[in-house]
Amino acid sequence: MKPIRKAVFPVAGLGTRFLPATKAIPKEMLPVVDRPLIQYAVDEAREAGIEQMIFVTGRGKSAIEDHFDIAFELEKTMSERGKDLSVLEPTRLGPGNCAYVRQQEPLGLGHAIWCARDIVGDEPFAIFLPDEFMHGTPGCMKQMVDAYHKVGGNLISVLEVPHEQVSSYGVITPGAQDGALTEVRGLVEKPKVEEAPSNLIVSGRYILQPEVMRVLQRQEKGAGGEIQLTDAMAEMIGSQAFHAVTFDGARYDCGSKAGYIQANLAVALERPDIAGDVRAFALDLLK
Ligand code: G1P
Repeated sequence: MKPIRKAVFPVAGLGTRFLPATKAIPKEMLPVVDRPLIQYAVDEAREAGIEQMIFVTGRGKSAIEDHFDIAFELEKTMSERGKDLSVLEPTRLGPGNCAYVRQQEPLGLGHAIWCARDIVGDEPFAIFLPDEFMHGTPGCMKQMVDAYHKVGGNLISVLEVPHEQVSSYGVITPGAQDGALTEVRGLVEKPKVEEAPSNLIVSGRYILQPEVMRVLQRQEKGAGGEIQLTDAMAEMIGSQAFHAVTFDGARYDCGSKAGYIQANLAVALERPDIAGDVRAFALDLLK
């Protein structure tokens, strides 16, 4: 079984739901307390043993590249002033640990992943959608990699949502269940509520075999006229093992304003330096 060494982060989206905040900065750079969303995703990948981060970016996304680069002036000035640089440690991605590729047109998530095909090469790889903020110990991808070592093949993270919300997501047809693992019998992108096979949605973490790139190569359009990753994955069911992992932890949809605020509050309440103040303030505010 080949190890999961590479992760793809599709980060070319325009982030229109967070305008005007995202007019000049990428949505992936919005902070949850003091770290940008993309940093949490990269940390989750590292924890799972992933070595190379592949960012599929677009115009106006250079802040992400700067974030993972050396900040010479900042670091020099901080050193001269005797400041602790360890806070910048997680932002360091050396040249062998990151790659950037552009998605020139917004043709869909499947297309974004396909843009990384040459860097991914012929090995299984992970995908992270950074606005799905998965919070837990161990992290979601670590839980998935552990499951991968047992069952191999393809894995996606899933979670239950209220039935009326399924039409915003990829939805699975579940098969046999064994603890946190569920066999995936079918996949459909953004079904009508009345046609959805379940209320188990694909929640933004994937481990896929490289064959998915061959399916994506055909550039077939699906829901919303976009090239959908879900459709390409659906084609692999039957010829390769396909499982869903129910993440043991919390998930915040940071693509929505309410989810983003929830994530900030949840993380703040876990930080020893600010938790007390935030709790007192929140209680006071709710009175
Ligand atoms: C994408 C995927 C969908 C998945 C969702 C999770 O949709 O296509 O299958 O459930 O992310 O957030 P998007 O949010 O880009 O419309």
